Amino acid sequence: MNQQQTPLSHTIDVTRPSVARMHDYFLGGKDNYPADRRACERLLAHAPSAQILAVNNRRFLHRVIRCLIQDHGIRQFLDIGSGLPTKDNVHEIAQHYAPGAKVAYVDHDPMVLAYGRALLEDYRRTDRRIVTVQADLRDPDALLDHPAVTGILDLHRPVAVLYLSVLHCVADRDRPADIVRRTAARLSPGSFVAVSHLVSEDAAVRRTLTDLMAQSTGGQWGAVRRAEDVDRFFTALDILDPGLVDVAAWRADPLMGPRQRTWEWIQYGGVARVP
Ligand SMILES: C[S@@+](CC[C@H](N)C(=O)[O-])C[C@H]1O[C@@H](n2cnc3c(N)ncnc32)[C@H](O)[C@@H]1O
Repeated sequence: MNQQQTPLSHTIDVTRPSVARMHDYFLGGKDNYPADRRACERLLAHAPSAQILAVNNRRFLHRVIRCLIQDHGIRQFLDIGSGLPTKDNVHEIAQHYAPGAKVAYVDHDPMVLAYGRALLEDYRRTDRRIVTVQADLRDPDALLDHPAVTGILDLHRPVAVLYLSVLHCVADRDRPADIVRRTAARLSPGSFVAVSHLVSEDAAVRRTLTDLMAQSTGGQWGAVRRAEDVDRFFTALDILDPGLVDVAAWRADPLMGPRQRTWEWIQYGGVARVP
């Protein structure tokens, strides 16, 4: 852990909005509180597309998992910044396409850990292929060496690392591009990294939405960035077609879900192979 990182919290404070519970609200979940819902409504007033982006991001997640299983034979997933359990969790999607798929869920939020463990407890009695771990993604080595992660994933074999809608929670001072690079450097060739990230090409929008999220979450937020900042996360990786794009358009199904109606920001990203 570097000097600027805070230790992992074990306290759940429902009076202050959390990114995980705001995300849960946007996805139609029930694991959120008035403070989270008020923060979401404030955000929607500035960025009406926020809820649709959350839904479309989950659809991107589904397509990414299907592609990595069916086209690239991936059977291990490391879902970093996994969020609260929801409909169609990564293990449910992955095991639908590959029944033996293994999934390690990682999040720093203690509520994600508690709910994840509660949800998965029954499941884990019969299925030892999933685990929920509390760790901070800003320390990639500690995360990858966590015994619960290494207990389930074999990092000597290809793994898909999912950084979906999470790297915008990481401040510039914590160097998100370095975090991705250091993580990818620990993966075996043929592994994959998937990223989605909130971006805007409008400086005023970036500033307003970054400040709003930082205030709402008590600083548990990094930055809305430019697409070119996110491109740097993929240095030295082989980016799959169609490249880095609005994730709603990434190998989109013809029967697309809800369309984004306002374009103040988008979820931008893609998938890349570790050479
Ligand atoms: C917007 S949610 C995304 C959930 C899910 N990945 C998705 O795409 O639907 C972001 C999640 O990242 C988690 N998170 C934020 N910063 C983190 C960090 N430094 N380490 C681990 N998890 C983090 C939050 O607690 C939250 O659950």
